[in-house]
Amino acid sequence: MTIAQMQAEILRVKKERDICILAHSYQAREIVEIADFVGDSYALSVYASRATNAAFLLCGVRFMAETVKILSPEKPVTLANAAAGCPMAEQMDTALIAAVKAQYPDYTVVAYINTTAQLKTVCDVCVTSSSAVEIVGKLENDKILFIPDCNLGDWVAKQLPHKQIKLLQGGCPIHAAVNLRELDAQKALHPNAAVLVHPECTPDVVAAADYVGSTSGIMQRATAGTEREYIIGTELSIAEHLQYMCPNKRFWALSKKLLCPNMKLTTLPDVLAALNGTGGEAIALDADTLTQARRCIDAMIALGG
Ligand code: 13P
Ligand code: SF4
Repeated sequence: MTIAQMQAEILRVKKERDICILAHSYQAREIVEIADFVGDSYALSVYASRATNAAFLLCGVRFMAETVKILSPEKPVTLANAAAGCPMAEQMDTALIAAVKAQYPDYTVVAYINTTAQLKTVCDVCVTSSSAVEIVGKLENDKILFIPDCNLGDWVAKQLPHKQIKLLQGGCPIHAAVNLRELDAQKALHPNAAVLVHPECTPDVVAAADYVGSTSGIMQRATAGTEREYIIGTELSIAEHLQYMCPNKRFWALSKKLLCPNMKLTTLPDVLAALNGTGGEAIALDADTLTQARRCIDAMIALGG
């Protein structure tokens, strides 16, 4: 089958079975093209909470599929490639958070959405990179324990200096690997380019950027911007999508290291197999996990919507 034939078959099957395909913006172009909705983690969860389809198929990583399941527990939710996890989401467990909470009992525990459903059960509210500052800013309690990404947490803390934000040492191994030397080298090569980075990058890289924001934020800033060139400090696919969307501008990846292997696992054959029930993984979470984790997600949507 050619790519076009496979895409046509995917569109036919998903329509026939009323399956909504959700794709994170780090997915490859051929997957973005067959999705009902493409967005950052926050937009995906809000869209999923409102969609009326019979079932969902998630092209992205496991915590995103879990979030959709938490929001629609009665509907089948499939992760297109069962091996697609996010290493950051697995970094901390409930025992660690229980121990830290015992040390800081009066702190509100804010979990980046890049966490397992299990971990969300012991947290108070979720945030995404696009909603973190707004949501933490709205919390009544000024004492915040922010997990697991210390880079995102540091960026939030700098935007909200009146909050006392405690961080744990977790983060995205892909974004955190990029350094200031690489950014300076790209700036030297492209001196007129605006620098747009994701807050999962290290604080020195973030401080040197012209704009800091989520995947969608970076895409909006780049498409609306008047500059002709951009250095993009997030997963490589974003520079590629932007180059496709804005052929008259130039987009440079901040570093070739910005490739998330997990986000790249999902292929069109995976999508077709998952739609046909011969591939992917149906997300199953027990009733307690669903209920406890949902508090965090509902609080996020209520505060960020
Ligand atoms: P967004 O919140 O920007 O979608 O980012 C998700 C992610 O995994 C970033 O690495
Ligand atoms: Fe996880 Fe980082 Fe990949 Fe995003 S880019 S899915 S945070 S490993």
